[in-house]
Amino acid sequence: MKIGIFDSGFGGLSVLHEAYHRLSGAEYLFYADLDHVPYGLKTSEQIKEYTRNITRFLIDKGAEAIVIACNTATAVAVKTLRDEFDLPILGMEPAVKPAVEETSAQKRILVIATPVTIREKKLSHLLEKVDEDHRVDLLAMPHLVTFAENEQFEGPDVDEYIHEQFASFDLSKYQALVLGCTHFNYFKPAYKKAFGKDILLVDGNVGTIRHLAGVCGLCYDKEGKGRASFTDTNHMLHDIETQYFVSGNLITEKNLLNHVLRMHDRLEAVREL
Ligand code: DGL
Repeated sequence: MKIGIFDSGFGGLSVLHEAYHRLSGAEYLFYADLDHVPYGLKTSEQIKEYTRNITRFLIDKGAEAIVIACNTATAVAVKTLRDEFDLPILGMEPAVKPAVEETSAQKRILVIATPVTIREKKLSHLLEKVDEDHRVDLLAMPHLVTFAENEQFEGPDVDEYIHEQFASFDLSKYQALVLGCTHFNYFKPAYKKAFGKDILLVDGNVGTIRHLAGVCGLCYDKEGKGRASFTDTNHMLHDIETQYFVSGNLITEKNLLNHVLRMHDRLEAVREL
């Protein structure tokens, strides 16, 4: 079965990465829309248009199900895409429910996401349902998307940005940080530096892959110990399991394939944090 996974950029690799660990029997078409990243600073109409084109492209390439590995695109376009296309389309939304369930009633939860995800109604509806005690605060951190695309995962610039953005919050009151944008998975050590090592980092990747397995009837490994990434670009070029696309073009250039490999390596290194 062929699964199309797309994002504005390489944040969505965190979802594919989890699929490598947990699923068997699937092939993937991974699509990063680098011509239009970041989506978090675009209008809803633009995002609908981009995602419609990507979905059509992935279906033409043989996708039998689509994962929108992007909270921003999901917030804006999942309903439109489901209305327009006749195949399973899975979206992602900030994993607020598990964060509420896994934290104590006295503690607060911070959700970080793109400005679009934060202003869209999908998130406020979710909060109305799951945040009965009003323990959740929201914060837009659009610049992390740029840092991620530039492979700038740590260092003074990242620390300073995070420090500035968190400055108006009393971090000692927070027990969980929800990573409401797939690009934000790359910075787990920096969040731990800011909040302390006990902060619970919650993302929607495992939940999305479990859901995908159910919808597509794929074998799901609960332990998540499966193969994590590739080892070299030759393997990637001749591999039929995954084809990587950048805004409509198959990636065959070694530099870009190496970039993808390094992003997978980073995701592997921070996966258990
Ligand atoms: N990775 C995307 C998300 O999960 C959006 C990043 C962007 O393009 O702004 O929200």
